[in-house]
Amino acid sequence: MEIEKLKEELKALNKEYAKIKTIPVEERKAFGVEMNKKKQAILDKIKAAEEAAEDANVEPLDITAPAGFNAPIPEFKQGSKHPLMTELDHVVDIYQAMGFNVMEPRQLDDEFHMFDSLNFSKGHPARDGYDTFRTSEGFIPIAHTSAMQNRALTTYKDRLEKGGQIAIVIPGRVFRNEDVDPTHEHTFYQCEGVYVAEKANMGELLGIFKNFFETYYGQSLKIKTQPGYFPFTEPSFELLVEKPKSLGGKGDGWLELLGCGMIHPNVLKAAGIDPEKYKGFAWGGGIDRLVMMKYMLNDVRYFESGKLDFLEEF
Ligand code: DAH
Repeated sequence: MEIEKLKEELKALNKEYAKIKTIPVEERKAFGVEMNKKKQAILDKIKAAEEAAEDANVEPLDITAPAGFNAPIPEFKQGSKHPLMTELDHVVDIYQAMGFNVMEPRQLDDEFHMFDSLNFSKGHPARDGYDTFRTSEGFIPIAHTSAMQNRALTTYKDRLEKGGQIAIVIPGRVFRNEDVDPTHEHTFYQCEGVYVAEKANMGELLGIFKNFFETYYGQSLKIKTQPGYFPFTEPSFELLVEKPKSLGGKGDGWLELLGCGMIHPNVLKAAGIDPEKYKGFAWGGGIDRLVMMKYMLNDVRYFESGKLDFLEEF
């Protein structure tokens, strides 16, 4: 209301200002100055009135009030498990059903567990193949879940003396100083498996794989091995799995999914297990690749990208 009145006053003043033409020239300056003063006074009052009106429109905010009191609570989507975590659980469930126990790796470990205990001799070029990061204190963000093999063996070796076996899987997050592209990430997941008993052979391991892939993919898949090299297994193999058309393959493709082999005697010795009495096999491979084939994804970087539209599809 007050603002309206002030605006009327301003109009009237403008009309009065128009009279400037009718007064003698020598009086015009003084007249103009006087009129401008009055005009500024009215403009100031209008501004003050407008600001006061604006303040009056703001509801006081009670910052101690419970949620939803001051304003309605917006509808939030509930967070959900990351697809890799869901798949990792599924992988572990399958191995547990076969009788494996689960251990978790450390994300930061040392030279002994990452390399020495796994029969990498000092200065061996295979160490470079793991593109390891190092902290300034000399710790290693593990570049493979095999870094837990020695702990798995030492923790459970008394089972062997009682006539039992060591059967452990180790799912975990690993880190490599890699150039990132659609099939390589600096951070990814692996699952390791370790089995030691008085008798163990590669045929049993292939049986485990056959069962695992059949359960995980819900269909029987062909598998094959090719020779590989890892300092901690002898002999060493790479395991390939058929990529069928039903999972986005072209019908003749194979996917290299993991490394495996018979545990090297030096690895057993490093854990205080007599390689003359006990044998074992081990394997380890990336979970990301396994999941990519299951859902026919073509870019591993999506997993760590935080892209909500991707994550919400799961
Ligand atoms: N740690 C190996 C890698 O990341 C994979 C691997 C190979 C694990 C052979 C094993 C094994 O346990 O026996 O490349």
